[in-house]
Amino acid sequence: MLRIRHLLLCLLPVFVVVAKEPADTNYDEAKVPAYELPDALIDLAGNEVGRDEWVAMRRGEVQRLFEESVYGKTPSQKLSVRYELIERDPLALGGRATRKQVAAFFGEDEYRIDILLYIPNGVKKPVAGFVGLNFGGNHTVYSDSEIILGRGQEKDRNAKASRWQVEMLMDHGFALATVHRDQIDPDNYRNDFSDGIHPLFYQEGQTKPKPTEWGSIGAWAWGLSRVLDYMQTDDQIDASRIAVIGHSRLGKTALWAGAQDTRFAMVISNNSGCGGAALYRRCYGERIHHMLKPVGYWFCTNHHQYQHQEQELPVDQHMLMSLVAPRPLYVASATGDRWADPKGEFLAAKYAASVYDLFEKPSLGKLEMPDANQPIHTTIGYHLREGKHDLTAYDWEQYLRFAKGFLKSE
Ligand code: GCU
Repeated sequence: MLRIRHLLLCLLPVFVVVAKEPADTNYDEAKVPAYELPDALIDLAGNEVGRDEWVAMRRGEVQRLFEESVYGKTPSQKLSVRYELIERDPLALGGRATRKQVAAFFGEDEYRIDILLYIPNGVKKPVAGFVGLNFGGNHTVYSDSEIILGRGQEKDRNAKASRWQVEMLMDHGFALATVHRDQIDPDNYRNDFSDGIHPLFYQEGQTKPKPTEWGSIGAWAWGLSRVLDYMQTDDQIDASRIAVIGHSRLGKTALWAGAQDTRFAMVISNNSGCGGAALYRRCYGERIHHMLKPVGYWFCTNHHQYQHQEQELPVDQHMLMSLVAPRPLYVASATGDRWADPKGEFLAAKYAASVYDLFEKPSLGKLEMPDANQPIHTTIGYHLREGKHDLTAYDWEQYLRFAKGFLKSE
């Protein structure tokens, strides 16, 4: 009996790995194909650009390439919005913070998004802060029983608190704003763009995004910008000192949000992997064709043509990070997250250097990938945490240390 149980326990991890990671996944550095990255500084006409041309023209060109070939274009149309303070407690967390729950209602349809905010007490206002989407509902980010339940359940309260570290953030004097990603676009495998924010932007007769229009990542990124819009109206918050952060698919989202919306003062990608921080052309770990069946809707449909054709993409992810320049950017990986290709995440951050150089901002250009738990902080931060795919207290400690250097005026 003991033997059988032992055998099952041994088999279980193998089964889980196989279930998640397709048989054609490459984890062999020797099998990474030779690749040439597109040069962020060579424009579509083939000319090398300097700082002024980057700002005036090439930056927009690179953003358009990402719109057309990866994430799809976000509509520029502005929806009317109305904010309603649903609930406020100036003495949350035993007096350490103010909690606000704000509903944002968009358009004539009154599409609703619920923003949960914690603002530290006893520090000089307005404060800097972080904004990020959560996976499971606002009530999962902290034990606070006053957080309004969304579509979630009571039993999930606090379930993802380790990923948010609300108390640590308050103790360091940073605000936190979060929204459930499903409120912006439901993240499910049957996503047909009918029940999230997309329909509010459809032309007459349109029922789904066109091939170069936004998928879910585009919609989620749009949502992050809308939270920032709200933060601009809150006089306890300094919206010019807000970092956008995300883990995994929401790390892909944070990068795309920060690339498009330059009001975000800092961008943090935690274990975002393929379609996020990792270089597509390394074809290591997760690849485009692995994502298409389960989660192709995250991207624009035009992205699908690059499955098995990564080398044909007009961009790679170092260029996404270049769009964040000259603002501070942080990329973090984990040793146990091969699927997200930690080395590819580091290299993309490193190769963003050419654009950071234009602004004379120190970057990772001349540095090698550090060992585990050896963070490097230049204008671009990077660390490889020991452990699995997750967002942990260790990650937050690094982000807070990094953010203090750039976002805190006190
Ligand atoms: C899957 C997916 C990744 C994604 C991750 C997540 O593992 O393949 O691309 O980053 O889910 O968001 O949790």
